[in-house]
Amino acid sequence: MSDFTTPVWGYFVGIVASAGIVWCLWLLYTQRRWLGKAPANQPVDTGHVWDGDLTELNNPVPRWWTVMYLLMCVFAVGYLVLFPGLGQYTGTLGYSSADDLRRQQDAQEAATRPLYARYEAMPVADIARDTRAQEIGQRLFLNNCAQCHGSDAKGAPGFPNLTDGDWLYGGSPDTILQTITHGRHGVMPAWTGVIDARTASDIADYVRSLSGLGVDRSRVFSGKDAFGTYCVACHGVDAKGNQALGAPNLTDNVWLYGSSQRTIEVTILNGRDNRMPAQEGVLTSAQIRILTAWVWRQSHADGDADAPANGATGANAGNALASGKP
Ligand code: HEC
Ligand code: HEC
Repeated sequence: MSDFTTPVWGYFVGIVASAGIVWCLWLLYTQRRWLGKAPANQPVDTGHVWDGDLTELNNPVPRWWTVMYLLMCVFAVGYLVLFPGLGQYTGTLGYSSADDLRRQQDAQEAATRPLYARYEAMPVADIARDTRAQEIGQRLFLNNCAQCHGSDAKGAPGFPNLTDGDWLYGGSPDTILQTITHGRHGVMPAWTGVIDARTASDIADYVRSLSGLGVDRSRVFSGKDAFGTYCVACHGVDAKGNQALGAPNLTDNVWLYGSSQRTIEVTILNGRDNRMPAQEGVLTSAQIRILTAWVWRQSHADGDADAPANGATGANAGNALASGKP
């Protein structure tokens, strides 16, 4: 298999590689003077003299040097016959570094399979109590998730905090498993052209008021009105969100993008388009189960499915109840 999108590059590589060898051989041929008998292989005086007595000679190339170069050319030709190196030509041995990598990965997976096997069927809540699994989970998270969610899993603007017991999609083991396996795509439509800047600002005041943040009271009322027109379809009449759509709870003072008036206006006018990449095919199902347990454990410190999440506020608990998810 070739990574080139057109065969042209294959020919290019093949020609450059063969031309290099031909050029080396030609160079050796032009420097063949040592083959001849003395005096042909004696230094030749170039006739250049410096400072009166420094004479420049033209010495023939040493024999060992030429032999070494010839051997290198022979090696190169042999290599290019046996291994891939000339564009699309795959070599007589059929070697491929991609196959080699795949073999090593398979061997690696076979070696770790027994280690993971016991987690395939174990309930997530039990995996969350298994010290060994938690260690593996931590490492898997650092290698595969931390670049977006942070090494402490506390997230960053646009990347949800996974430790706070507040969920866009739901925090039950099953839902987390779905999220990690299939990924998520959160889309908040852009309202620019529909909602003018002034109204967007009113709505932002209303949204901030729901979390008890400082607002311009005189604008909250008209903001609430507009919210009722444009926003309730996804965020709900009570603005507590909808986990089936990934529409966040806007009443809990937990923010994916930020709580400032300006940030909320930007969200309303420009919308948001956010993706969590699917891990199916990237990680094995056992690895995903271990990660699910690890993530779930971050907000269920004692591994108790019924306990409220640590750090959960009253509003979060209400959200969890409303969705019927722990
Ligand atoms: C490329 C960045 C990226 C990587 C890598 C990534 N995530 Fe995410 N993740 C996101 C984004 C962005 C969201 C929010 C999606 C949305 O807003 O709809 C998200 C959402 C989630 C959620 C849902 C949170 C909620 O509140 O419902 C979970 C759980 C999650 N990620 C776990 C993981 C795990 C475990 C990994 C590692 C296997 C991982 N993520 C890797 C970007 C990433
Ligand atoms: C079609 C469904 C839909 C509609 C309608 C909608 N939203 Fe959203 N909204 C979402 C989704 C989904 C997200 C999460 C986006 C993400 O995951 O990045 C979101 C995110 C937000 C956020 C960011 C919250 C945070 O934690 O940072 C705010 C604020 C918001 N919406 C306000 C509004 C307002 C105000 C309206 C009405 C003008 C509105 N939304 C209409 C679906 C919707």
